[in-house]
Amino acid sequence: MTFKQDFLWGGATAANQYEGGFSEGGKGVNTSDVLTTGAHTKPRQITWVIPETGETGSTGMGFGSEMFFPEGAIPSVLEGEYYPSHLATDFYHHYKEDIALMAEMGFKTFRMSMNWARIFPNGDDEAPNEAGLDFYDGVFDECKKYGIEPLVTLSHYETPLHLTIQYGGWINRKLIDFFAKYVETVMNRYLGKVKYWLTFNEINCMEFAPFMAGGILNPSPQNKAQGAHNQFVASAKVVKLAHEIAEEIQVGQMLAYQPLYANTCDPADQLLVMESSQVSLFYSDVQTGGKYPAYQLKKYEREGIVLEDSSEDYELLEKYPADFLSFSCYGSTTVTTHKDDLEGGGNLFNGVTNPYLETNAWGWATDPACLRLALNTLYDRYHKPLWIVENGIGWDDKVEADGSIHDDYRIEYLRKNIQSMDDAVNIDGVDLMGYTMWGCIDLVSAGTGEMKKRYGFVYVDRNDIGEGSLKRSKKDSFYWYKKMIASKGADL
Ligand code: BG6
Repeated sequence: MTFKQDFLWGGATAANQYEGGFSEGGKGVNTSDVLTTGAHTKPRQITWVIPETGETGSTGMGFGSEMFFPEGAIPSVLEGEYYPSHLATDFYHHYKEDIALMAEMGFKTFRMSMNWARIFPNGDDEAPNEAGLDFYDGVFDECKKYGIEPLVTLSHYETPLHLTIQYGGWINRKLIDFFAKYVETVMNRYLGKVKYWLTFNEINCMEFAPFMAGGILNPSPQNKAQGAHNQFVASAKVVKLAHEIAEEIQVGQMLAYQPLYANTCDPADQLLVMESSQVSLFYSDVQTGGKYPAYQLKKYEREGIVLEDSSEDYELLEKYPADFLSFSCYGSTTVTTHKDDLEGGGNLFNGVTNPYLETNAWGWATDPACLRLALNTLYDRYHKPLWIVENGIGWDDKVEADGSIHDDYRIEYLRKNIQSMDDAVNIDGVDLMGYTMWGCIDLVSAGTGEMKKRYGFVYVDRNDIGEGSLKRSKKDSFYWYKKMIASKGADL
């Protein structure tokens, strides 16, 4: 069991689920701020208003399902609605306490996202918001104090809402320049403080959740393709910019990836695995591999999709691919062409129940082999350093009468997953930079908006309807992770 000397152990979060401070420090509204709370079987709603008539309502943002907005409706924060992102678990006011807890666990890195609308409240503003910049200065200084290397996602479901209303979100090429200006501002500001950046969280979520991923209201195949193209070009521009600003800066891609299994040995199921894998791998083929793959070009041709693009776009993509590839991986998904009598399962990727695997209360199949499989697939395909930036298990943790939280299921999950990652490194020779467990301090679920779908080593007292003291307490997994990091991964 050996990991690199400078292996980056840590935890991951995102501003829209963790930071709060919704109307503080001049922050603008972002797309996640108009999402209500849902549940496993109930999609979160995007609330809207029709300014001419004053009519209000909401539209479900269920993964993959159609979204319908009446004529003239614009997403909006409505009075009397509860929006979990607005306070979330209040990193905004607890960051010193939280970073101290991370340091106590021995974190070498902390993945967080920067709320774009905190820096440019509307996304297209002339000048950045100084109070927003100051806030992150405080956060990075605190990390530095403990020798924790920040890993910063530039956009984690946090497109400023104004860019959706005014420009249609990422289908509009103007967003490439707005994003580049934002990135140039923060990369220069935090030079010497932040070395590792990620552009778009789970960029392939454009496929499944285009409102969250790209602020897009009409999820037509054409719009999703254009949104993805614009984010690819923006990402390449960011790599170029980063390398011009300083040699030490590295920019990674962030992909949602999990192994897909065929439920039967019917060749039709193997073909389905291949085709379903391409839906996600297309995104890393372009952003990390530097080129549109043939299968995607053919698909666009068949579907009549025509991109608004230029020859310089493709030169940029080829010349400035991501420096490394990071990804989220929670388990695996099993697919089949013989679906009729099988139950659904999986998360973003619709699948069927795999009888060999256990699922949590939200139907996510945990799979001890997933990291080794994912790491091998991605390393063999791109030969670039990899970084696991999300892995973990959502659970409705129980607080005992004495305040303790015995999350042995989480320890068991992490033990098996880290063993699988170890196999990929030590048996297969994959080049792995780090591991950040998702939601290291409890935060709001992105998929459901619930608090009770908890991932953390640290429990935060807050419930699904926004009650609770926000007090932090250590779960059993806190001590386990601390010991594991201290042993450099040997003591599982
Ligand atoms: C990833 C996202 O899809 O999975 C995170 O990048 C998200 O934002 C995580 O929180 C877990 O999903 P969920 O729906 O359980 O919060």
